[in-house]
Amino acid sequence: MPEEISATPASIAARAPAVTLTQVTRHYAAERPVIKDLDLLLRRGERVALQGESGVGKSTLLNLIAGLDVPDAGTIDVAGVRVDTLSDAARVRYRRETLGFVFQAFHLLPHLTALQNAMVPLMLSGTGERLARERALALLAQLGIAQRADARPGELSGGEQQRVALARALVHRPALVLADEPTGNLDPATARLALGLLLDQCARQGTTLLMVTHSPETAALADRRLVLTQRGLAEG
Ligand SMILES: Nc1ncnc2c1ncn2[C@@H]1O[C@H](COP(=O)(O)OP(=O)(O)OP(=O)(O)O)[C@@H](O)[C@H]1O
Ligand SMILES: [Mg+2]
Repeated sequence: MPEEISATPASIAARAPAVTLTQVTRHYAAERPVIKDLDLLLRRGERVALQGESGVGKSTLLNLIAGLDVPDAGTIDVAGVRVDTLSDAARVRYRRETLGFVFQAFHLLPHLTALQNAMVPLMLSGTGERLARERALALLAQLGIAQRADARPGELSGGEQQRVALARALVHRPALVLADEPTGNLDPATARLALGLLLDQCARQGTTLLMVTHSPETAALADRRLVLTQRGLAEG
């Protein structure tokens, strides 16, 4: 049986870290830091829920790990790569190859269809169009929106856009998925479906997952729960 399939919290604990943040600080303008001296270690294949009050810095933390933002101090290491010191070109490559990101506001490309949006990471990595289409369509089908494959984001509901964003984050089987309230716009049944797919794909592929959620039920399904407060990160 492949290692990913037999993943349990005990086997995860023995693995090398996938993400290590050391003494990370980030402040906007001259205000007090949103994130101060933060340490975080996620092991490979671990599926972690991140909770915390609105405005406490959860999206900021995800953006830092994604290389979309740069810390004012501290180091960020993802699978042996120092994300905080990458050149712009290397940062783009890191995001394309290593990461899947479900943004809080989706950020789909408006001129592409749902299917084309979901295919983007594979097309950027040079995968042939046929295979990219096949894989993206399979994910859209699993998320219950294959019938909307040819619609553009402007023609999709918030929940449909969120599911396209989820398909796009998973389609290239990245090593790390960062998901910012990935089921926040879905009804309970669809949220369960989407969350099940996300957790299952990550477990099967040994993907590390850091998922922001305000839902205790969602957090309960993760391998580990973290809570971000103004005092820092705590195990939940
Ligand atoms: N680009 C920015 N410039 C200035 N302040 C910002 C910027 N982005 C975020 N902030 C501020 O930093 C703080 C943390 O924001 P962040 O978006 O990380 O919170 P969050 O925990 O994700 O909240 P929510 O649960 O509402 O999504 C907030 O006070 C926010 O107003
Ligand atoms: Mg946020």
